Amino acid sequence: MSGPAVTFPQRGFGDTSRTDNWWVKPLAVFVGLSFFFVGYLPWAMLQGEYYWFGNYLSPVYSPELWGASPHAWFGGPRPPFWPAFLPYTAGMIVLWMPGGFRFTCYYYRGAYYKAFWQDPTACAVGEPRKSYLGEKSFPLVWQNIHRYFMYLAVAFLFFLAHDVWKALWFDNGAGEEVFGLGVGTLVILVNFLLLSSYTLGCHSFRHVIGGRLTQLSKRPVQSKCYDSCSALNRKHQLFAWMSLSWVAFTDFYIRMCAMGVWHDLRIF
Ligand code: FES
Repeated sequence: MSGPAVTFPQRGFGDTSRTDNWWVKPLAVFVGLSFFFVGYLPWAMLQGEYYWFGNYLSPVYSPELWGASPHAWFGGPRPPFWPAFLPYTAGMIVLWMPGGFRFTCYYYRGAYYKAFWQDPTACAVGEPRKSYLGEKSFPLVWQNIHRYFMYLAVAFLFFLAHDVWKALWFDNGAGEEVFGLGVGTLVILVNFLLLSSYTLGCHSFRHVIGGRLTQLSKRPVQSKCYDSCSALNRKHQLFAWMSLSWVAFTDFYIRMCAMGVWHDLRIF
C-alpha cells in the first residue's frame, strides 16, 4: 500500500527550526583547525629556527633529514638537490606526510566539511548548495589516499620514538652523553603517546591490522588486534585534538627553551 508522497521543505542556507546552539561546535572546529592548520604549524614549519634544544627536536621537524641542527641525518643546512633560489627548512620536506594523514582522516574530513564548507552545516540546518557529489567523485575521491598516508604515519611513530630516546640523553658538558630526564623529555614522550593513540586508532590501520577480513570471528588473533584498535578508535576524535594540540605545544616548549625564554628543568 503506498501512501502520499512525503516532501521536505527546501531550506535556505542557515534556515532551521532548531533552537539549540547548533552553531557552537562548527564554529569551535573552524577556529581550532584554522589556528593549527593555517596558523601555528605552517608558521613553525617555515620559521626554520629554534626548533631544537640540545637533545630535544621539535616534532614539526622530525625526522630532520637535512638541516642546520645536530639532529640532521645527512648534514645540511639544506639538501643538495634543493634549488638555491627556494627557501628551505627541514620541516618542509617531512610535514606534508603527517599533515596529509590528518587532512584525509575520516574524523577531520567530517569536521572540516561541516566547519569550512558547510556541507552539511549541521543536522536539520539549510545548506548553501542543492547537489551532493560525495567522495566517489572528483575531487573528493582523492581522500581515499588516506590508506597510503596511514603507512607513512605509522613509520613516523618509529622516528618519534627515537626522538624520545634521544631526549633521555644529555650532554654533561664534557662531551659525554649521560642518561637523564627533563621536563622536555616528558613533553616529547607525551607527544609520542598521543600521536600513537591517534595513529593506531585509525580506521584504515584497523582494517589492515584486522587482516582485511570481512569475518573476524574465526580469526582470534586478527580479532584481538581489531578490538584493541577499536578501543583507541572509539576515542579517535579526542586523540585527534589532543595530539594536534600537543604537537604544537611540544614545538612551542622547545622553541621557548631554545630562545632562552623558558628554562628546561632536569628531574635527574
Ligand atoms: S581515520 Fe583518522 S587517522 Fe585514519
